[in-house]
Amino acid sequence: MITFANIDVIKKGPLAYIVINRPDQRNALTKDTLEDIKEALEDVRKDDSIACLVFTGQGDRSFAAGADIGQLREKTALDALTSGGMQDVYNLVESFEKPTIAMINGYALGGGCELALSCDIRVASTTAKLGLPELNLSIIPSAGGTQRLVRIVGKGKALEMILMGKVVDAEEAHRIGLVSEVTSPEVLEEKVEEVADQILSKGPLAVKLAKIAVNLGSDADIKTGLMIEKLAQAVLFSTEDKREGTTAFLEKRKPEYKGR
Ligand code: COA
Repeated sequence: MITFANIDVIKKGPLAYIVINRPDQRNALTKDTLEDIKEALEDVRKDDSIACLVFTGQGDRSFAAGADIGQLREKTALDALTSGGMQDVYNLVESFEKPTIAMINGYALGGGCELALSCDIRVASTTAKLGLPELNLSIIPSAGGTQRLVRIVGKGKALEMILMGKVVDAEEAHRIGLVSEVTSPEVLEEKVEEVADQILSKGPLAVKLAKIAVNLGSDADIKTGLMIEKLAQAVLFSTEDKREGTTAFLEKRKPEYKGR
């Protein structure tokens, strides 16, 4: 297994955890941390034993407290335009071919919140706090925050959070649909495993194509989105797993999917 300086990659059955490991800095994301995440994504993608990816932060205080502000201070306009930065890494997370879950165990601020926004599902501990406080530094969220938050919670709430730098607690995050589940910190990992189990009980090809249809479709006009949906379904109709799923239902047994 590859070892990294700023993250741990823990594999547990079909789950891989990418754990941001800079707890003394509240898991703030340096350039090197993002490079580590990018490399770990490739490792997890290629590992056929892994079916689902979970992001979390080391310690009990923080998921990730955003971009490293020391590094941020030195950035130039050209740095913001250079490819390979945080926005590009999170695009890889959003389009990752296996399902992704953000296990939010504390502060998810700025780039930490944006990492969670690029995951498919967000599960939070009662101690979680989420927000995009970039305007406090006279910059804007630019790793997808201005685009993904609005798609998840709507324009009114997104503008409120971004313009006011409003940090919401887990309960409010749940109420506005920013996270799917809230649990006590003691059972957070268990809850994440339950969510993963539910996803992994489905046909893996259907999971993959549902994710593509939702992600690409929500960025397209409805006609294009509906065509993406139709084409994805056409692919699924030609699979052995679709026959297995429908047959298992009719035979009143559990399906055994093969990913074909
Ligand atoms: N970048 C760099 N260092 C950070 C950081 C960040 N985003 N977030 C926290 N740290 C560092 C602090 O500077 C501090 O370092 P020190 O021990 O050398 O002084 C250490 O992590 C602990 O942070 P501290 O503020 O003392 O912890 P806290 O528990 O009281 O508060 C936060 C935690 C997350 C609320 C607070 O650190 C914070 O607001 N961080 C910045 C969040 C932010 O604005 N992110 C968006 C960046 S674009």
